[in-house]
Amino acid sequence: MKFSIFFTILLSLQTFDLFESFTINCTFRTTSLDVIGSVYQCYTSSIPRTSGEIITNVTGTHLSGMSNINVTGVYIEGNRTLQFFPRNFSNFFPNLKAIDIYRTTIETLFGNEFDEFPLFEYIWWNTSPLSTISSRLFEKTPKMVQIDFHGNQLQRVGYDLFTPFNVTQLRRLCFHTNPCITSDIATSQANIINVINILRQNCTYHDPITTSTTQLPITSTTQSPITTTTQPSTTTTTQKPLTCSNATIENLVCDLKDSMTEVQDDLLTKDDEINKLKTDLAEVKNQLDQTNNKLDNTQNEVIILQSTLKWVKSELEWLHNHHCMCDDNKIF
Ligand SMILES: *[C@@H]1O[C@H](CO)[C@@H](O)[C@H](O)[C@H]1NC(C)=O
Ligand SMILES: *[C@@H]1O[C@H](CO)[C@@H](O)[C@H](O)[C@H]1NC(C)=O
Ligand SMILES: *[C@@H]1O[C@H](CO)[C@@H](O)[C@H](O)[C@H]1NC(C)=O
Ligand SMILES: *[C@@H]1O[C@H](CO)[C@@H](O)[C@H](O)[C@H]1NC(C)=O
Ligand SMILES: *[C@@H]1O[C@H](CO)[C@@H](O)[C@H](O)[C@H]1NC(C)=O
Ligand SMILES: *[C@@H]1O[C@H](CO)[C@@H](O)[C@H](O)[C@H]1NC(C)=O
Ligand SMILES: *[C@@H]1O[C@H](CO)[C@@H](O)[C@H](O)[C@H]1NC(C)=O
Ligand SMILES: *[C@@H]1O[C@H](CO)[C@@H](O)[C@H](O)[C@H]1NC(C)=O
Repeated sequence: MKFSIFFTILLSLQTFDLFESFTINCTFRTTSLDVIGSVYQCYTSSIPRTSGEIITNVTGTHLSGMSNINVTGVYIEGNRTLQFFPRNFSNFFPNLKAIDIYRTTIETLFGNEFDEFPLFEYIWWNTSPLSTISSRLFEKTPKMVQIDFHGNQLQRVGYDLFTPFNVTQLRRLCFHTNPCITSDIATSQANIINVINILRQNCTYHDPITTSTTQLPITSTTQSPITTTTQPSTTTTTQKPLTCSNATIENLVCDLKDSMTEVQDDLLTKDDEINKLKTDLAEVKNQLDQTNNKLDNTQNEVIILQSTLKWVKSELEWLHNHHCMCDDNKIF
């Protein structure tokens, strides 16, 4: 009962805009992100399949004391319907520095997507079929501190993607669970350099010299080493070099430590995903709470009605018992 009401409300929230006017409907909230901390965020999930690329308006109710100027983050739940990276967010949110984007159908980042955000420093782009990232992506956003593209389909990452940065400024790189790279989250400088090197070895891709911001050739003729390298037959064993030497019982302990490190790394990754799920869950819970409140109110009203009804009934009984409901319209 409660759930059917909940879903009815969810369904009624969907809007289907015309192609020409692409309105983003925000739920505004304050949230905390990895590395950069608190942001005032526009959360949006209702981007219709038919939407265009250029955002023509942003709606939603701000928290008190806030306006578009205060918005520093956007979280887009793509719902596997988002086909284009939305453009012109900066017309509404000029101080945007963080984007979380999830479950899109976008396959290629051409390189100019973040150009409109001079303060940009955080990207979390997850669970999408993203396979190609142009070298140019961060050319206009040299303040990046966190770059996370885990859980995509990456095969080609521009060789010069990291040239705008002094690596000491990068605080977190995360590219795991992609076809060309499996390395875990990197937060130490050594690990960050390691991930950059693996990307360059394993996913490298040289952008063609382009001056325009249009299409990259996504043809089958690429220099991607993925198709040319013949991996030694050891690729089926664990991807991490073990640090243990081959000696007696100490070895076992050492092996165990290695396994534990791997498990811990996995846990870190899972933590990350759990946190995102928690955010989503909080959203759902919030809506459920609201629905419950409404339901409670309705129940209260029903109780009041019931007691009124009871009262009316007892009045009627009293009247009946005193024979006053009968003839000549006489009461009492
Ligand atoms: C935006 O979403 C809110 C609830 O999240 C809803 O009440 C409102 O009608 C929506 N506005 C538009 C223009 O779709
Ligand atoms: C999300 O995707 C589902 C399944 O494709 C679709 O039925 C639903 O309308 C989408 N929701 C929104 C808000 O676009
Ligand atoms: C844009 O949205 C605001 C509400 O946030 C509304 O007041 C305004 O009329 C909208 N503008 C257009 C052109 O739709
Ligand atoms: C929102 O931005 C305005 C204008 O910059 C500023 O005066 C205000 O303090 C900000 N509000 C918060 C809560 O940060
Ligand atoms: C969108 O942004 C581009 C580049 O900043 C600009 O040329 C264009 O006029 C903008 N479009 C709208 C509808 O604001
Ligand atoms: C990178 O930044 C660090 C401190 O943040 C600085 O010491 C170092 O010289 C910088 N390296 C380059 C190549 O700019
Ligand atoms: C490099 O790519 C291959 C697939 O081509 C993959 O099996 C391997 O795990 C990758 N290496 C790293 C360190 O991610
Ligand atoms: C490790 O030790 C075992 C047993 O002593 C031996 O059979 C094996 O060849 C050793 N492996 C290496 C890589 O030295």
